[in-house]
Amino acid sequence: MHYKLALVGFGNVGKAFARLLLRKREALERQFGLTFSVTGIATAHHGIAIQPNGIALEDILKLAEQGDLHLEEHSAWPVNSVDDFVRSVPADVLFENSPVNHESGQPAIEYLRVALSRGMHAVTANKGPLVHAYRELTSLAGQVGKRFMFESSVMDGAPIFSLFRGPLPLAELRGFMGILNSCTNLLLERMESGESFEQAVQYAQSIGIAETDPSADIDGWDAAIKVAALSTVLIGVALLPQQVAREGIRGITPQMVQEARQSGKRWKLVCRARREGNSLLAQVKPEQVEATSPLYAIGGTSSYVQFELDTLPGLGIVEGNPGPETTAYGLLADFINAIRGA
Ligand SMILES: NC(=O)c1ccc[n+]([C@@H]2O[C@H](COP(=O)([O-])OP(=O)(O)OC[C@H]3O[C@@H](n4cnc5c(N)ncnc54)[C@H](OP(=O)(O)O)[C@@H]3O)[C@@H](O)[C@H]2O)c1
Repeated sequence: MHYKLALVGFGNVGKAFARLLLRKREALERQFGLTFSVTGIATAHHGIAIQPNGIALEDILKLAEQGDLHLEEHSAWPVNSVDDFVRSVPADVLFENSPVNHESGQPAIEYLRVALSRGMHAVTANKGPLVHAYRELTSLAGQVGKRFMFESSVMDGAPIFSLFRGPLPLAELRGFMGILNSCTNLLLERMESGESFEQAVQYAQSIGIAETDPSADIDGWDAAIKVAALSTVLIGVALLPQQVAREGIRGITPQMVQEARQSGKRWKLVCRARREGNSLLAQVKPEQVEATSPLYAIGGTSSYVQFELDTLPGLGIVEGNPGPETTAYGLLADFINAIRGA
């Protein structure tokens, strides 16, 4: 079976996904009988291309690596905007990987809405649509017999959402805790090794972990939106990031980090959510964790989540030092699972 794929966003994630598609092309055909062509790519500042017979992905990746990507030069016809792109690209699956909008989830929600309405599967690594439109997009997907998938949006390619779609029938999720923001985890670790807060931020920026404006990570917004996403999808309590009690790591000084170290503890930005009667307590807060905690050993850019289920009181998943291909893998897994109905 041949699938036409359209990509909105061709940044770190979009490009890693394109590379992974090429690397797994033969295995996709051999194991699942799936072949594909990428019929469209849309960006904000690097042009938009639609090519019904398939874009030469290797060439486009080379141009992107050389910093010389002008997608409009590879388009079968001119496309004025990303909105026009999603309304007209001939595709079976839309992969939406534009930047997250914490406040509204837009314009990604609209891209995904249009894709589903046109009968495509909609796959995203973007947390915005998940917390702001999970129910609407899931219900729309159901109406058109397609899937809305988002595995990469929390803990990259680690199978968090798919875990709850099949292997845990009748298990009741009561809550979860973990480390869901890799940037702050790295900053705290760098401060443990003697760096100032500013030096740690500079290092994280130099390896592409922290953004130019790292406040979404440092102030706990990224962790809060992940708590909201997991609560909304897995616990079934719709939560916005603004409703998560949130404290970032600005108040944690290198001295505090060193003192904790000397007493055998580590500061971590800890995410928690727990069902209490009819309400849900959700928070992001720096905590000192003991050496006996599973959070203690989570270093660098790794993440961890531990679920509390009625039948499995402590089910933990570690994601060790992810890279762009880890996120790309979540998109690929979503693609395969959407096609085979998993
Ligand atoms: N990086 C990760 O490891 C990771 C992990 C999990 C989830 N995510 C999520 O994945 C998404 C993409 O992340 P990224 O690291 O690839 O970001 P990125 O490198 O900044 O790339 C974003 C891409 O989206 C395009 N874009 C910007 N505004 C757009 C708009 N309004 N409409 C359509 N396209 C637009 C950009 O085009 P130009 O380049 O032309 O401006 C660029 O191609 C984000 O939602 C992020 O939260 C990322």
